[in-house]
Amino acid sequence: MSSPVQLSHEGAVAVIRVNNPPVNALGQAVRAGLLEAFAAAEADAEVKAVVLLCAGTTFIAGADIREFGKPPQAPLLADVTQAIENFSKPSLAVLHGSALGGGLEVALACHYRIARRDARLGLPEVKLGLLPGAGGTQRLPRVAGVAVALEMIVGGEPVTAAEAERTGILDQLFDGDLLAAGLAFAEQLQAQGAGPRRSGEATVCLTGGADNAALLEAKRREVQRSLPGLFSPLRCIAAIEAATVLPLVEGLKRERKLFQECLQSPQRLALVHKFFAERQAGKIKGLDTAVETRPISSVAVIGGGTMGVGIALSLAAAGLAVKLLELDADRLATALQRVASTLDKSVQRGSLSAQAMQQRLALIEGVTDYAALAKVDLAIEAVFEDIAAKQAVFEALDRVCKPGAILSSNTSSLDLNRIAAFTRRPQDVLGLHFFSPANVMRLLEVVRGAQSNAAVLASAMQLGKRLKKVAVVVGVCDGFVGNRMALQYIREAELLVEEGASVQQVDAALGEFGMAMGPFAMLDMSGLDIWQSMRQRQRASLSAGQLLPTLLDRLCAAGRFGQKSGAGFYLYPDGSRTPQPNLQLAELFDELADGVHEDIDPHSLLQRPLYALINEGARILEEGIAQRASDIDVIFLTGYGFPAHLGGPMFYADQLGLDKVLQGIREYQRRFGANWQPAPLLERLVAEGKTFTEWGQQG
Ligand code: 3HC
Ligand code: NAI
Repeated sequence: MSSPVQLSHEGAVAVIRVNNPPVNALGQAVRAGLLEAFAAAEADAEVKAVVLLCAGTTFIAGADIREFGKPPQAPLLADVTQAIENFSKPSLAVLHGSALGGGLEVALACHYRIARRDARLGLPEVKLGLLPGAGGTQRLPRVAGVAVALEMIVGGEPVTAAEAERTGILDQLFDGDLLAAGLAFAEQLQAQGAGPRRSGEATVCLTGGADNAALLEAKRREVQRSLPGLFSPLRCIAAIEAATVLPLVEGLKRERKLFQECLQSPQRLALVHKFFAERQAGKIKGLDTAVETRPISSVAVIGGGTMGVGIALSLAAAGLAVKLLELDADRLATALQRVASTLDKSVQRGSLSAQAMQQRLALIEGVTDYAALAKVDLAIEAVFEDIAAKQAVFEALDRVCKPGAILSSNTSSLDLNRIAAFTRRPQDVLGLHFFSPANVMRLLEVVRGAQSNAAVLASAMQLGKRLKKVAVVVGVCDGFVGNRMALQYIREAELLVEEGASVQQVDAALGEFGMAMGPFAMLDMSGLDIWQSMRQRQRASLSAGQLLPTLLDRLCAAGRFGQKSGAGFYLYPDGSRTPQPNLQLAELFDELADGVHEDIDPHSLLQRPLYALINEGARILEEGIAQRASDIDVIFLTGYGFPAHLGGPMFYADQLGLDKVLQGIREYQRRFGANWQPAPLLERLVAEGKTFTEWGQQG
């Protein structure tokens, strides 16, 4: 097999080209190839300089993540970067696309760096539970200072090429051809008689005048406050600190030790699972990958309420033309006003330029007549959650939309197959379940109807990517994957309160576990009425012995729908969004608990909601509503604030041990009865000694 690293010559310049699709990751063959190519250039007396560049759409995007956790194979990347830095002739890295992680570390080991103007540079290792382990924590602070290193290494977000040039990481930006730009810069170096300029020998961080100790301490405090319980961010800081107090060789050793600690951490395992799970979610089992997608450039959004406005904003942000249809001119004006004020707030916050706001506004056209939708490629219905309302909309869409237009519903829970049957083209219908606020939340459940055709599904997945969302295919059932599972989790949270725990106690327990917010704060935020309607349907189909709580219904009956009505499980005085304890509830809860307060063991505050979630996840998996366990994880990681470092509910269950989970569920079944019937798949997997992840890969 030919090496993914090729060496060629352009006069006195050795050109080293990495070609390892799709992202030029630094697998073993690339590492070995780099060492070999640099050694050959070193030995060749004719070679006066080296230009390193990559084929394809990107520079090296990092270490090969698939190798983590496997026995290391020589040469180690840290040894490769050290060898590159030690090279005796000037070397130049020419960046384009994404220079991430180990890729940027290779570039930092080269003596000079230039980048195409559209490149992005970053050290995202922290997002995988790691730290840069090939010299990045030692070389970046030396080149760009401690403040920049802390920002990039602890934050993990990439920076633009322009930003990297400003901070001294890059020597020059260019447009156009990589090789031409590289050779021109190498020629310039030769003309100046420039020799190697080693990042490890740079002294910016020592002499830049910044108070490095104070910067490090401030970042440490920030991380302890905002990312409690995370393993790698504090180690990132410790590694950067080493750069400020130790010589390079010692600093590199310290980095290596800290990197190894991160590599062994369960958090790394979970975060890498998340990385691959998100990418796997885009693949639809049984779907011909060659299927042709339908082009989408104009979209109708029907209904300009909470969701319709958010969806329109999301589409316009991706450059798609939107026709927003409302019932009448007044409602349309209100919807367009909401569009404008949301964009305006972004401009005020500084997250959007005034020009971009104008561009997006120009893309959203308000209409009240279906005739205006005749030519759209896709329609997304977001009207009231009422089957008669959906019927009227889909019949109208079926009448006016061109053949081949994709017709979709944002319904949270109605039967998509019934909706599809309102049209004469059920094969073109599917669900696009956005999450609120739709312009912010990354999750998109793509609901596959019984007749949705392959091109329609593939087009929806492609649209998700274009909207920068994580699209996950789900089957038709009440609540689909996310809400159906969450309803079981909420059930247990409510029952705990009915048994005597406080709302704050339950929310605090799940908050400490790492959920972005506790179940009651989440209910208040999303609106209690949405959950109540699902609960009512759940009540109508209960099996013998099952018991549902009544708190949610009581609050709704009292007109407390959560944040939007100023009160729910918490209070929100004067339009505040910060939950405040709702003391009046205590009386209501006393009455509900019938005066009998069980001693709530702190463990069950956490375990009961989580085990209820996992048990329902197992049913969903077995029914084929989710394609694989990791899809369920993605849904909870991106849509429900499940802690990323625990990998999602199904991965978390695998790590706990499914036998332990089943044992816990059986114990609850003994204590609380039919609500806790173990999912047959869970029992089967325990009997077979398998995990959810393994089952998902097979099934
Ligand atoms: N290793 C192995 N595979 C990788 C990879 C990596 N570093 N980066 C991406 N891939 C794979 C993906 O799994 C996917 O494979 P698939 O087609 O089989 O599903 C394929 O490449 C394409 O990836 P995306 O779908 O993500 O493509 P995009 O074009 O949307 O994004 C990207 C490209 C911005 C490079 C994105 O893939 C990315 O962010 N990759 C990870 C970057 C990263 O985290 N690098 C640091 C790694 S850790 C490290 O370097 C440690 C060092 O310090 C020692
Ligand atoms: P909403 O009540 O805020 O907005 C509905 C809008 O649709 C109103 O502005 C109304 O005037 C308009 N409308 C009603 N009938 C119409 C018709 N025939 N033609 C044109 N416009 C019409 O409702 P919301 O919250 O935006 O929900 C919309 C849909 O999205 C529902 O199906 C809901 O279940 C779903 N959904 C809601 C989420 C949420 O958190 N609010 C989350 C995900 C999905």
